[in-house]
Amino acid sequence: PVMRDPQSGMWMVFDYAGVQRTLSDWKMFSSQRGRPQGKDAEHALSTSLISTDPPRHRQLRSLVEQAFTPRQVRALEPRIAELVDELLSAVQGTGGMDFIRDFAYPLPVIVIAEILGIPASDRDAFKRWSDAVVTGDPSGSREMGAYFARLIEQRRVEPGDDLISGLIAAQLEGEHLDTQELLGFCILLLVAGNETTTNLLANTLLCWQDAPDAHAQVLADRALLPGTIEESLRFRSPVQSMFRVAAQDVELGGQLIPEGSPVLAWIGAANCDPAQFPDAGTFDPARTPNRHLAFGNGIHFCLGAPLARLEASVALGAVLDRLTNLRVVDTPLEPIPSQIVYGVKSLPVT
Ligand code: HEM
Repeated sequence: PVMRDPQSGMWMVFDYAGVQRTLSDWKMFSSQRGRPQGKDAEHALSTSLISTDPPRHRQLRSLVEQAFTPRQVRALEPRIAELVDELLSAVQGTGGMDFIRDFAYPLPVIVIAEILGIPASDRDAFKRWSDAVVTGDPSGSREMGAYFARLIEQRRVEPGDDLISGLIAAQLEGEHLDTQELLGFCILLLVAGNETTTNLLANTLLCWQDAPDAHAQVLADRALLPGTIEESLRFRSPVQSMFRVAAQDVELGGQLIPEGSPVLAWIGAANCDPAQFPDAGTFDPARTPNRHLAFGNGIHFCLGAPLARLEASVALGAVLDRLTNLRVVDTPLEPIPSQIVYGVKSLPVT
């Protein structure tokens, strides 16, 4: 359950109890230590909320949390339903589509872009940038950084009712966030919120392909959809691993992890731990309880979880209603080349 990978020198944690502790015990497992620091766009993500420990983490989180309460998120439902309708209407009757390119990718991008107040004309560039950020290509971060820096300056002069304007006005202990911190929020929301939700939608189709009975059951009874989404999050977790650094010597799973060691908590493995999930290899939408760790655990628990769940429920509900004969085309699928993000690059369906 806990081992040191001799090649990378990284400690790997696989079991449910160990992953839960690694993610939540921030005194022992830091999100901040060892992150490259710097005041430029390339470092905006590694100095953002997700890469900070308390007390800084608590301050930053309280600023952005207001925008993502379950109530605020619920208010987005009619707009999400409208977008889902537009996207599905554009492909309905064409006989097939790439589920990712035509549906699962654009939906979360448009939603987060509207929350941030990004003009519709600029959305296409995001796919390139967020892909580049996820695969570690610095040119993507630079381009995205330059774009957001311009947008932030514009909003300083002409505030709107979007999240960026709200964050500019927000104060942290009497001080405003600086441009670097604002940039960190924008890039984090875009990166954390897009690819993950895209993959949740597409991975659910793959779950249905593996378990046609579960697909037939939810087609017949929509009340099974929330359980289906939770089980998809467990079974094909869009985020497979999260990084920490041991803040002290720490014992975990009978091993001593020395202070300063890099640690990778394998969410995808924990979510298949038979000690926590009986019959873990079966896709079971009726699984109760289903305490998966797909959104993390503890203080860094996914800020966007209510939004991701809402998008998935509206989007997959519409897919079930409108595309009753939907089938994944039987063709080899190419995985996204990442240790963190789990999904496929494209998903042809008929
Ligand atoms: C944090 C997964 C959607 C914003 C996290 C973490 C996970 C995760 C595992 C914990 C990171 C850690 O412990 O270090 C997912 C999955 C999603 C999803 C699987 C979709 C299915 C979203 C969306 C947004 C979002 C839609 C925003 C619009 C964030 C932010 C954090 C976060 C800001 C950092 C929270 C903090 O450090 O306090 N997410 N996420 N996520 N997520 Fe998500």
